[in-house]
Amino acid sequence: MTLLAYEDLSVTLPHTARPILDGIGLSVSAGETVALVGESGSGKSVTARAALGLFPADAEVCGRVRVDGTDLVGADAASLREVRTNKAAMIYQDPRAAINPVRRVGDFLTEPLRLVHGWSKDRANARAVELLGAAGLPDPARHMRQYPHELSGGMLQRVVIAAALTAEPRLLLCDEPTTALDVSTQAEILAVLGRLRRERGLGLLLITHDIELAAAVADRVYVMYAGRIVETAPVAELFATPRHPYTAGLLDSSPPLEGPLDRLTPIPGAPMGLRESAPGCAFAPRCRFAEPGRCDRSAPPLLPHGPAEVACHRAAELDGRIRTASPRTASPRPASVQPMKEGN
Ligand SMILES: Nc1ncnc2c1ncn2[C@@H]1O[C@H](COP(=O)(O)OP(=O)(O)OP(=O)(O)O)[C@@H](O)[C@H]1O
Ligand SMILES: [Mg+2]
Repeated sequence: MTLLAYEDLSVTLPHTARPILDGIGLSVSAGETVALVGESGSGKSVTARAALGLFPADAEVCGRVRVDGTDLVGADAASLREVRTNKAAMIYQDPRAAINPVRRVGDFLTEPLRLVHGWSKDRANARAVELLGAAGLPDPARHMRQYPHELSGGMLQRVVIAAALTAEPRLLLCDEPTTALDVSTQAEILAVLGRLRRERGLGLLLITHDIELAAAVADRVYVMYAGRIVETAPVAELFATPRHPYTAGLLDSSPPLEGPLDRLTPIPGAPMGLRESAPGCAFAPRCRFAEPGRCDRSAPPLLPHGPAEVACHRAAELDGRIRTASPRTASPRPASVQPMKEGN
């Protein structure tokens, strides 16, 4: 069952040379983990916020974003409230920014239940303790009485995950949920999210700039560049056989999650800013396979190629020829991000 579906979503701001998002198509089903990866500024967070019906002020929005069937583009206030309170929840990078520092953890969790859902204090408290436990926080009753500064970043992210679950959403949007955490805490948080997905049949959209992390936890991956999806594939395929030169470039420039650190090869040049535009493929100026007179003429559409979809004029002739500099293991799940240590 499809929980989240973007159809040809474009978001354009006045005074920019190109749209922030340009024809995004993306879907997340119940029980599925979908990763959205790309460099800083590619439009990942704008895409995630669109799933809550949040668009930049002044933006012109075209296309559709359906959450559980409700289209959020042009939706009325009641539909937006229904989606934001009951259907979808967002987890951000920095848990400290999401929590009021002068209120106790328990108040942060119980207030929405009491004020929005009208629950009694005792019922809300019991539910908050249960959710903290589900998010893997040991001794949840004690932490209910603590202030945010008394908890570590990893513990606070568990509080934020518990808060996101209060309304029992089917869809969890995670915008760089582990970027602010150390590697072992990152693995624990990912394990908690994976377990919640399995137990509750959640659909998970995981936003990350780290393609290795995406490969380790997602079922499918979308790769974004300058506001467009340039490749999407099941994770093992994308990892073993990148079909877009940008995907290969991301793999070559990312340190592996585990194992020896091979030489990293940065992608030359810089991503296209919002004040730049080009008639051709936005990645062409940085692409070692770009063909003058072809790749710089028109933007390539996203088309099926084997098990993937790729937006590259040369996708058919390059199929199988794009090699990453250091061959990657076909096994996409290093031990450090296996579902483990869920009790911590
Ligand atoms: N409210 C806004 N008003 C104007 N421009 C915006 C707004 N939100 C985002 N942008 C611009 O849209 C582009 C995409 O931003 P976005 O935050 O989605 O990138 P990102 O892929 O999440 O990057 P990062 O990895 O750094 O978080 C950027 O150029 C950003 O400056
Ligand atoms: Mg972002």
